[in-house]
Amino acid sequence: MAALNELKEQAIEILKSNDMGGYTVPTHGLYPFQWNWDAAITALGWMKTDESRAWQEIDLLLKGQWENGMVPHIIFHQQVDSYFPGAKKWGVEKALPTTAISQPAVLASIVKMMTEQAQDKALAKTALARILPQLVEYHHWWYRDRDPENSGLVVSYHPWESGMDNSPAWDKSLAAVPPVDYSYTRRDLDHVDSDERPHAKEYDRYLYLVDFFKAANFDSDVIYRDCPYKMYDVGIISILHKATKDLVELCRADASQAEHVATFEARLKLTETAVQSLWNEEQQSFLNQDAITKEQFPVLTTGTLLALYGELATTEQAEKIQTVLRDWLAITPYAVSSTYAKCEAYEPQRYWRGPVWLHINWLLALGLATYGFEQEQQQLKASASDLIHEAGYYEYFNCETGAGCGGDAFSWTAAIALHWLL
Ligand code: GLC
Repeated sequence: MAALNELKEQAIEILKSNDMGGYTVPTHGLYPFQWNWDAAITALGWMKTDESRAWQEIDLLLKGQWENGMVPHIIFHQQVDSYFPGAKKWGVEKALPTTAISQPAVLASIVKMMTEQAQDKALAKTALARILPQLVEYHHWWYRDRDPENSGLVVSYHPWESGMDNSPAWDKSLAAVPPVDYSYTRRDLDHVDSDERPHAKEYDRYLYLVDFFKAANFDSDVIYRDCPYKMYDVGIISILHKATKDLVELCRADASQAEHVATFEARLKLTETAVQSLWNEEQQSFLNQDAITKEQFPVLTTGTLLALYGELATTEQAEKIQTVLRDWLAITPYAVSSTYAKCEAYEPQRYWRGPVWLHINWLLALGLATYGFEQEQQQLKASASDLIHEAGYYEYFNCETGAGCGGDAFSWTAAIALHWLL
């Protein structure tokens, strides 16, 4: 078992070795670009060793922001052939190529944490003044483009947008998307065993959606009308909700952005009411829902638990979720597994179908703390700590054995360890 100091040094070393000169790759080989929520989380790790480098991470992410406000899920800062689907396949013709979807909007919450934790207050102040208008545009984009009818619930168009790619929560909706009818070479399997990655039948549909966005000329109205995959994803909705709350506070403190407060507050209210339609009493949980068929899926995942992080559950609902969570942790005790082991589709080793992800456990712990669930919060922290002590800084961990899986020397795992555990 590694000593604390040694672990800290290792984590900082990982950030440095994944640094491409201003942005951090999640891990070399498997993910050679800058990812949206990885960048935000990784910046928290940089805060522990180099604050100016932390702000730079956010600046480079926002360099990829679209004119309509979207912050893409991948920014292709360099040309690399070892990743598929890369910039060419996505076909976004901009000075800085990107994908055409976003990722969970944890960014504003993290920027707020960074300003609060900064030792160099002057640097943080200047950085925030630069970044805040871009965060505002990003959140306006979410609500305008992804909830054009003001329902209170934003939709997601791709499992990759959830950040929880092959979660069983959307198996049924993804199966309704046509598969592509051409052959292609996956590059993820060059780096990681196939029993830890999504199946071919899922990849065929991921690619269909990528082609669909391009065929629609990335037109928001066309995509909203015709996209064959539209999901009310509790994870995305909750993370966005919390981030908008944090953004409102940042805007209130800056006179030049105060005009946005009322709009965002109205959106928060709308979501707080609308999210109740996703509560399922039988499952004692919020559930994801197909926004086209309106079918709800009784699949409990860390995404559905994130309603606590979003502060969207009533006290009574939160207590019911707590009861489920206790059972969850009794079956798979290495922190919270990404899928509840009682679900049919659960697999302890396959990516988002069971394994433990450290940054998600951190978000859950924040949610548990908000509701005063101290014991569970401590339990998550202790088992997350065991994982890195025993296995190191992997992308994710087998939830039954604690073994490291996926990419090694992983940026967000190192960053969250620095921020939360060490
Ligand atoms: C995978 C994960 C996603 C993450 C990306 C880079 O696609 O599912 O959440 O952002 O890898 O680490």
